[in-house]
Amino acid sequence: MNPASQDEAAQTAITRHRLSTRGAHNFAHRDVWGPREKTMANPWSPGNPDGTVILRLAENSLLHEEVAEFIKAQMTVLPIEHLTYSTGPRGSRRLRRAAASFLTEEFQAREPVTADNLFITPGLASAIDAVAWSICDEGDGILIPQPLYNGFNFDTLNRSNARVVGVPYEGIEGFSELEDLFDPDVNQRALEGALRKAQNDGITVRALLISNPHNPLGRCYPPETLREFAAFCGRHRLHFISDEIYAKSVFDNPAMPAPTPFVSTLALDFGDVIDPTLLHVLYGASKDFCANGLRLGFVATKNEGILGAMSSISMFSWASHVIQDAWAAMLDDREWMNNFMAKKTRLMVENYNIVTSFFREHGISYCESNAGLFIWIDLRRLLLPKSSQADHSQLKVTSPEADMYKQREMTTADICAKNGVMIAPGNVYVPEEFGWFRITFTVGKGALQEGLNRFLESLAEVEAETYRVQ
Ligand SMILES: Cc1ncc(COP(=O)(O)O)c(C=O)c1O
Repeated sequence: MNPASQDEAAQTAITRHRLSTRGAHNFAHRDVWGPREKTMANPWSPGNPDGTVILRLAENSLLHEEVAEFIKAQMTVLPIEHLTYSTGPRGSRRLRRAAASFLTEEFQAREPVTADNLFITPGLASAIDAVAWSICDEGDGILIPQPLYNGFNFDTLNRSNARVVGVPYEGIEGFSELEDLFDPDVNQRALEGALRKAQNDGITVRALLISNPHNPLGRCYPPETLREFAAFCGRHRLHFISDEIYAKSVFDNPAMPAPTPFVSTLALDFGDVIDPTLLHVLYGASKDFCANGLRLGFVATKNEGILGAMSSISMFSWASHVIQDAWAAMLDDREWMNNFMAKKTRLMVENYNIVTSFFREHGISYCESNAGLFIWIDLRRLLLPKSSQADHSQLKVTSPEADMYKQREMTTADICAKNGVMIAPGNVYVPEEFGWFRITFTVGKGALQEGLNRFLESLAEVEAETYRVQ
């Protein structure tokens, strides 16, 4: 949509619904969940074979029953003051204490994390929104390496009007393949280049935001690269925000002989390169605890200013202390948690093997991963004409044909959706090349098998379609 028609849609909304300019703009262009609610109302299950298999969202459904049972058995209001305003919007002391010892032990924090350094939010999207609102004025930029988790756009933009400044790697010395995206020197060069460009474009950059483990690539950053990120932020007085929501969704993959294990930024000593009040770690219950719907996350920071600024707005989006009790009980019960994580990892490996064997059997290329809930797959061949299968340069986002290839990617996802399986087209992750897709593998085995069958059927249809139009 061009800016003029965007304005037209917002103008109509202002008149018809008597909205503010801000409200009208968001209503017309940024309501992600409104349309999604309809498409997600009919999920596949054995009892609903005509439903849609959702392999588009990063959800881990493998242990839903266990979480539900735990909550049912443990659910209590503790302390009873959680039926009052209690300690207020920064989060219950109970959950903050439980989360502090969880981080200290499980993330091997160099310095013990204290309850005073934690701020509970209703999900991590809310945490990112709150941090962006606290550190960015309208139009300010947040650097994020590409490809990037698409939600970062909404979280930084929808309320704060901050903007994501993607960090591209194409053309950076030392970059030629996916592995290089995790290399310290490549990142150092890419970040300096992106910052310089943003400044030349008149954008005030406030922060670097990373997802570690990486969404959508399903890999972890090595400590040297994390140090490079911290040093870059220290040099330029930027905030360094590390979103570690997949920290406990790391698994063994024999196809990756020397995988990078997850190391939290909290475990590393960056004291010589960055002011510790510029470093913030984000974590949440959604992914590692198979509970996207619980809506709980937190910001770990030593920055009193950010804590105070977030406190001022979180009066309006305050996670119920009674629900906080449920997660606190999980974090406090280490035996339950360790068994839960071990079982979850086992099931994730099983599903990963099912999906990747299926891909190999059907000649679908993919990137091996050892973290996250999804697989980054390569369908570039489907977008290209038979005569130029090897020429990937056409698929670059900078190529003259970029729009056409982006459209083909969307069409592929649409055909899948029509056939009852939703997958994510890569372009939503701001990649540098079209033809990639993200598929979630952490749904129940029945849904997974059905989803893969529908996916294969869709690919045959796309293949026929693509070659027909060329
Ligand atoms: C990297 C990353 N951060 C944050 C979120 C949002 O999580 P939440 O459900 O806690 O809002 C997601 C969800 O997909 C994610 O992948």
